[in-house]
Amino acid sequence: MTIIEPQDLGPLWERLGHQFTDDGRQNIGFPGATDITFDDLAGLWAGTLLNNIGSPYDGGHGRNHTKGIELQVVNMVADILSAPPSRWGYVTDGATEGTEHALLDARRRFPDAVIYASAAAHYMLAELAEKLMMPLVVIGVDDGGRIDVADLAGELARRRDRAAVIVAVAGTTMAEAVDDVPAIVAACDRMSINRRRIHVDGALSGLPLALVPADGVPRVDFSVRGVTSAVVSGHKFLSTLEPCGVLVYREPPLAAAAGRVSYTGTASVTLAGSRSGHTTLKLYKSLAGLGTEAHRARVRHCRDTAVYACERLRRVGVDAHRHPHAFTVYFPPPPPELTQRWVVPADDRCAHLICMPQVTRSDIDRFVHDFEVAMGKRRLLGGRRKPAMAAT
Ligand SMILES: Cc1ncc(COP(=O)(O)O)c(C=O)c1O
Repeated sequence: MTIIEPQDLGPLWERLGHQFTDDGRQNIGFPGATDITFDDLAGLWAGTLLNNIGSPYDGGHGRNHTKGIELQVVNMVADILSAPPSRWGYVTDGATEGTEHALLDARRRFPDAVIYASAAAHYMLAELAEKLMMPLVVIGVDDGGRIDVADLAGELARRRDRAAVIVAVAGTTMAEAVDDVPAIVAACDRMSINRRRIHVDGALSGLPLALVPADGVPRVDFSVRGVTSAVVSGHKFLSTLEPCGVLVYREPPLAAAAGRVSYTGTASVTLAGSRSGHTTLKLYKSLAGLGTEAHRARVRHCRDTAVYACERLRRVGVDAHRHPHAFTVYFPPPPPELTQRWVVPADDRCAHLICMPQVTRSDIDRFVHDFEVAMGKRRLLGGRRKPAMAAT
């Protein structure tokens, strides 16, 4: 066995601190807000074990948990999403866990259920379908990147006898497009597909859209009849600085009826066993510490920055686009010189930046400047004059 000698870790923490601060300003491609911080929680954070094992509705034997606050967090998110009083939920380790919980609940109710989701849904969905051994039908997207409801209706019609789980996305990972949930419900109604679940993956846009609805963008929350569950990430809009999420059901899932485990004294209703009690505190600070109006102001600020970014990029010849509600501005893949300096995810058709609250107009100015320089170099080297049009 290798013996681990104790080390002085101070210099490492210092180096990492500098590295993360320096890298942070160039990181405009992923949707993690970092404007809300948690220095006031440092004591609790650094010196206390907090384990929310089991059901948030049932404390269990242990006392070192934050389940009372977890329920408040679930209720605050459920209120924002217009969930009825019959709601049920818990704090997950991310949107992916919430979606998995909803899929598992659907499979328990309807063992023959087929999952339907658009080609622009999150890449983890295919893995979840495989893990849960549920068939997944991938639906095409329209020009805006939203699920093609006519294509969905066609696929539903081919399997009318089977239960359907539709995962609607708000918004998609690359373009922040929002699926038309009322139209999805209407398509199911038309075909009398009553054995169905409609789960909204609102990882990034679920809360912003519910807080500040945008003209022409359909509702994606529980105000839409037929939505059975929804999930949001905590580390995206709510700036928890570590991965977590909040899952909300309209009515309790089947798992909620599970009996108590004698060892923990609480029912095993979540996907994970032990669960962080710290992320709940951060969610609470973000939601209750700022309050609804401050979060609405954050949404408007992000949208304003995104409008600015889109216009600035277009002015230098970049074919940039955004949806009316979106923090995301997407454009054709930029030259590699740019992505070496800036954290900008790209596939072969599209790249994007996401104007989270900490992204400033001067960050955008620097990015646009570097984009222009990189395109100029490209032209000198005989490359394309302008990046190709984004597909969405
Ligand atoms: C549409 C969508 N769903 C799910 C996820 C994954 O969320 P989480 O990291 O909270 O599991 C993302 C992350 O970018 C996303 O864009």
